[in-house]
Amino acid sequence: MSETIALITGASSGIGKSLSQRLIKNGHRVIGTARHANRLCELQNELGDKFLSIDLNVDQDASVDTLLERLPENWRQINILVNNAGHDVGGRKNFADGNKKHWLDIIETNVRGLIRSTYAILPGMLERDTGHIINLGSIGGLMPVPTTAVYSSSKHAVDGFSESLRLELADTGVRVSQILPGLVKTGFASARFGDDSKADKFYEDFGIWLEPEDVAEAIIYALNQPEHVVISQLVIVPKKVPC
Ligand SMILES: NC(=O)c1ccc[n+]([C@@H]2O[C@H](COP(=O)([O-])OP(=O)(O)OC[C@H]3O[C@@H](n4cnc5c(N)ncnc54)[C@H](OP(=O)(O)O)[C@@H]3O)[C@@H](O)[C@H]2O)c1
Repeated sequence: MSETIALITGASSGIGKSLSQRLIKNGHRVIGTARHANRLCELQNELGDKFLSIDLNVDQDASVDTLLERLPENWRQINILVNNAGHDVGGRKNFADGNKKHWLDIIETNVRGLIRSTYAILPGMLERDTGHIINLGSIGGLMPVPTTAVYSSSKHAVDGFSESLRLELADTGVRVSQILPGLVKTGFASARFGDDSKADKFYEDFGIWLEPEDVAEAIIYALNQPEHVVISQLVIVPKKVPC
């Protein structure tokens, strides 16, 4: 992989943050996007001028549709799009016990947000006939368990979208890969429960998890394949339990 420009949604935390750090270390330029400007600002200070932080709310058409025009001209030729922004806010409850707005918000971000970002960035890739789209799915998109009806649905949608788009683009220079992690220790559980101590307990109860760096490494593997190879799906789980 020579120097590239990668745009990562959800770069302010967890997997997106770790991947930003890793890509910059490898000499690439990264557009890190999210809603929490303060968290992106800290990352900007750490990573320097190869990192460009941009406010982005993938739930909002206006935010995503103006993304390219909000970038400086020399940052617009995006080679890699990492559709990573996602959450399970209000989740890990039986469906009937959850809040309808929470359930719909999960779909808004994880599915509609991913579609919005792809729709904004793909035309430029097609015009240049080169690019790589990495979508963050989940093991929940393959093996649903109780209390994840909506989150699993969102990741099944990511699976269908990724596979269909990969096939559709097979005769172009654009590749599509889906990374499907099991449990990763990130800000994900805190966001879900709105409570750090509940999140800590959730991870402790599992007893084993991936670190965000493990997932970043899997993404680097997918990105580093020769032109004629595409990693369609890469499932990465903690060694002891397939969660
Ligand atoms: N952690 C796991 O166990 C696990 C397992 C499988 C798959 N995944 C997937 O991995 C991806 C990254 O999650 P993570 O574990 O790294 O969680 P995380 O630490 O909570 O990070 C999630 C990121 O998404 C961003 N985000 C959320 N809603 C957004 C919105 N509407 N617009 C823009 N950005 C938004 C957050 O930034 P702001 O809040 O600043 O906007 C944050 O940077 C997600 O798609 C998740 O579903 C996670």
